[in-house]
Amino acid sequence: MNDLFSVKNKVALITGGTRGIGLMIARGYVRSGAKVYICSRNSEVGKEEAEKLSKEGECFYIPSDLSSQKGVTALSEEIKSKESQIHLLINNAGKTWGAPLEEYPMDSWDLVMRLNVSSPFQLIKEMLPLLKKAGLSEDPSRIINIGSPAGSLSGGLNAYAYNTSKAALHHLTRVLAKELAKYNINVNTISPGPFPSKMTDFMVGEETFLDYAGNSTPLGRSGKEEDMIATSLFLSGKGSAYITGALIPLDGGVTLGR
Ligand SMILES: NC(=O)c1ccc[n+]([C@@H]2O[C@H](COP(=O)([O-])OP(=O)(O)OC[C@H]3O[C@@H](n4cnc5c(N)ncnc54)[C@H](OP(=O)(O)O)[C@@H]3O)[C@@H](O)[C@H]2O)c1
Repeated sequence: MNDLFSVKNKVALITGGTRGIGLMIARGYVRSGAKVYICSRNSEVGKEEAEKLSKEGECFYIPSDLSSQKGVTALSEEIKSKESQIHLLINNAGKTWGAPLEEYPMDSWDLVMRLNVSSPFQLIKEMLPLLKKAGLSEDPSRIINIGSPAGSLSGGLNAYAYNTSKAALHHLTRVLAKELAKYNINVNTISPGPFPSKMTDFMVGEETFLDYAGNSTPLGRSGKEEDMIATSLFLSGKGSAYITGALIPLDGGVTLGR
């Protein structure tokens, strides 16, 4: 039974696994016996988190800026120099930008689209040989894209590029799920509702985040680390081998509407 949810001895790469949702997934994987690579721009924070996690298992930090092709290639080369296969690729790093429609800057639009859509696509492309190597029909390798209810619902917070980028990422999941099935690579999206993180800090003050999440989700609370760990482990183990192209709402019911 237990091996249905097991990631033991799997190799995982989590982009932006140094805080927030990515770090939650990293903790779950490390504690379950996976070898985990996390990456981000702030190497001080990244090294510190990898060191902490290394006390509980295997975790390594790679500094990277995924907002350019150069950054994506540098990360891929670094992984390829260390590993011959990757079982789990989590495209988690993301950013948002809010501005009134009339003033929305093109540079910000481009940066959001690059980090949230173009980089995951390029990283998948570059990691393909390693993902193919790890994929088995009874336990495929997995790509998990971190989407958002903002990619399914219209509007909110003047985040025009963010909402559009997440919709694109959701669709990229479906396109690639079909294409990569023949290589035993499954592609799914987790669409998280409000989870406390640096990204959500700007929306509400920290003390009021719980109120905000309570009011905005039918289940009346924000997401917890254990919610994220359970869902990511489920999508990474043998037990979900028959699921691909899915958008899993981990959102307390946000997408059900008010
Ligand atoms: N929190 C929520 O409620 C929520 C809801 C729906 C969807 N999401 C999605 O979940 C994902 C994680 O969000 P979060 O809330 O955990 O955000 P977060 O706390 O801001 O974490 C973002 C992570 O990505 C890294 N990152 C940012 N820009 C990067 C770049 N250019 N290159 C490499 N790494 C970069 C950050 O590290 P550095 O800054 O050091 O680079 C950090 O590790 C995002 O895709 C977001 O859209 C979040």
